[in-house]
Amino acid sequence: MKTALVTGAARGIGLATARLFAAEGWQVALVDCDGAELEAVAPGITGGFAVTCDIADPDQVAATVAAVLKRTGRIDAVVNNAGIADFGPIEATGFDRWRAVMAVNLDGTFLVSQACIPALKRQGGAIVNIASISGLRASTLRVAYGTSKAAVIHLTRQQAAELGEYGIRANCVAPGPVRTKLAMAVHSPEIIAAYHDAIPLNRYGTEDELAQAIVFLAGDRASYVTGQVLAVDGGFESTGVGLPALRARGGDQS
Ligand SMILES: NC(=O)c1ccc[n+]([C@@H]2O[C@H](COP(=O)([O-])OP(=O)(O)OC[C@H]3O[C@@H](n4cnc5c(N)ncnc54)[C@H](O)[C@@H]3O)[C@@H](O)[C@H]2O)c1
Repeated sequence: MKTALVTGAARGIGLATARLFAAEGWQVALVDCDGAELEAVAPGITGGFAVTCDIADPDQVAATVAAVLKRTGRIDAVVNNAGIADFGPIEATGFDRWRAVMAVNLDGTFLVSQACIPALKRQGGAIVNIASISGLRASTLRVAYGTSKAAVIHLTRQQAAELGEYGIRANCVAPGPVRTKLAMAVHSPEIIAAYHDAIPLNRYGTEDELAQAIVFLAGDRASYVTGQVLAVDGGFESTGVGLPALRARGGDQS
């Protein structure tokens, strides 16, 4: 049975992704550092099992991949979804805050992917890294978060370039805003209003809308897609100024 390893799977986008993999018949290793939350949700997922792991710790990552392989014998897809957000001005972003964001978002994505390469090589497979629209376009308060996500986008391209000859594809999903615990901790009312003003679809996305794109890129339907960044963002990335002026007129073009 095809096996997916999903990090940050205890809640939010990762949990929705694990559920969708399971619904499509995959076996799913749910990986998260929040062991209590993970143990609470994993039994509800057919073919799902929990592995508690801090993805920023190389030893824990190695032990986790070994435990998954012992149980399943294979890994066909890796979704590097675990991430943290810490928004603040550049001058207030101390090195500890910078390092904490890089350790999870960038180092963790690198470590988990690298540890899974030998397994992915056996039959071919896919890596799907979760970046952010904050890695595509700069904004205020996101010096650490946005830079970590821009690095994840380039890491994806490095992986695609080097691993393609082993039948391993690497792609990236850049989510727009989704009302998860992560987002609600850093999205002030001003940020929520700014997103509505900048998104043609004029709303936040849902966890399941992200999961649909992630599972597509992980599976055979995307068998000739590699090195790509797919913004699942209601149109944010493609759009410049003008939406609030249009909406003030009720969208009336006449
Ligand atoms: N929600 C959004 O608006 C949004 C937008 C753009 C990008 N993203 C990205 O989507 C991904 C998922 O975010 P979410 O919104 O579902 O967040 P979330 O906070 O709901 O879930 C993140 C999960 O990652 C886990 N995690 C954090 N650090 C970890 C570590 N060191 N090791 C293992 N697990 C760890 C958490 O315990 C949590 O279960 C993140 O990479 C995030 O940056 C989210």
